[in-house]
Amino acid sequence: MSDKKARVSLAGSQDVIELPVLEGTIGPDVIDVRSLVSKGVFTYDPGFMSTASTESSITYIDGDAGVLLHRGYPIDQLADHSDYLETCYLLLKGELPDAANKQAFTDEIKRHTMVDAQIAQLLNGFQRNAHPMAVLISLTGALAALYHDSLDVDDAEHRHLAAIRLIAKMPTLAAMIYKHSIGQPVMSPINSLTYAENFLHMMFGVPAEGPNVSSVLAKAVDVIFLLHADHEQNASTSTVRLAGSTGANPYACISSGIAALWGPAHGGANEAVLKMLNEIGDESRIEEFIAKAKDKDDPFRLMGFGHRVYKNFDPRSKVMRKICDEVLADLGVENDPLFRIARRLEKIALEDQYFIERKLYPNVDFYSGIILKAIGIPTSMFTVIFALGRTPGWISHWNEMLSGPYKIGRPRQLYRGSPKRDYPV
Ligand code: ACO
Repeated sequence: MSDKKARVSLAGSQDVIELPVLEGTIGPDVIDVRSLVSKGVFTYDPGFMSTASTESSITYIDGDAGVLLHRGYPIDQLADHSDYLETCYLLLKGELPDAANKQAFTDEIKRHTMVDAQIAQLLNGFQRNAHPMAVLISLTGALAALYHDSLDVDDAEHRHLAAIRLIAKMPTLAAMIYKHSIGQPVMSPINSLTYAENFLHMMFGVPAEGPNVSSVLAKAVDVIFLLHADHEQNASTSTVRLAGSTGANPYACISSGIAALWGPAHGGANEAVLKMLNEIGDESRIEEFIAKAKDKDDPFRLMGFGHRVYKNFDPRSKVMRKICDEVLADLGVENDPLFRIARRLEKIALEDQYFIERKLYPNVDFYSGIILKAIGIPTSMFTVIFALGRTPGWISHWNEMLSGPYKIGRPRQLYRGSPKRDYPV
């Protein structure tokens, strides 16, 4: 703790309340307001715009500088030199694995990729046109029903097993949900494939043929997962922490995180990008949509442009842009009308004064939406892919909270309802 103090005085009172100021490793100081409740006052901060809900050592973001670090490592370096499973290990354990630990972790994940046959029965109860996120929420929560023997959240071994199971089974669940939606048989995982290859095999393979996965697409999917692996205390991660603070089991907590991610303000943006590109429909209409985006009286915004936190650039979109070029070239679809519209929009945003002045560059969702579409993943599955990638982040935050002293999350409120009154008799 630093020697710095913040002083608060309330109008009409002589008392000055002295509050400690906490210093992070990097980033702004934080005023510790915990003692305020004992003085009879609360702070008011809907949306947590000025509130650190927790202390954490996992991820650091500096939106103004375009910095995203996992356990101190910059995201672009991880995307260039690491892979998704190694990044999962890093998030969970705090350090990069050596070669032996990486192999052991990969093997452990592979041992848990299969999903109990009863989960498939549950899946069959859903209509084929059910939204994949609704099904994923249910199947993830249902995993708790299978593992009664390892749900002690105070036991570090049980928590580790839950983390492995969730990371391992998420691609299998996602692919099962997709196969169910199109009426094809569910594909079993193949342990000789990498994590990303396995996912693509289970999504697009058929039992009548052996695995045939493009290495360019597998690399692209691995990077998409890696770039989504964690993003500090966002809405879904905070949801997982809040649920976990009650002692709820990990499958229920991750299921609640998936539910929060489903909201269009959080995980739904890449889906919105594709909807917008389809709505524009033709290159000749781009100017019309750009004019709408600039018009103060028109609520339309270019989906996939701008970011609440990253005001200079999103370090993930630089990586994603490169992968996007590689995927479109590998698939030979650069001249597909939809992708031509996307490229024109991107060019305009990088050159037009309106977008330059407001720092509205294409964000990570812009490129991931295009890549997923090019690979052949339906838009309704986009948020499922996000959930799959984010699973190690959620589980690392849950585990971090349970590894130390924690309190049940219980915000207070500013009551503005009726004062006490008597029931009319
Ligand atoms: N298209 C056109 N104009 C925009 C856009 C956009 N996508 N985004 C912001 N602006 C304009 C605003 O109209 C405003 O203009 P003004 O200063 O003349 O009034 C200015 O840029 C600043 O906008 P704010 O709304 O203050 O920016 P904020 O930080 O609140 O919003 C947000 C960020 C929500 C991401 C916004 O840029 C947006 O709606 N983008 C489109 C949706 C999207 O892609 N979301 C995904 C974000 S990435 C993620 O969540 C992983």
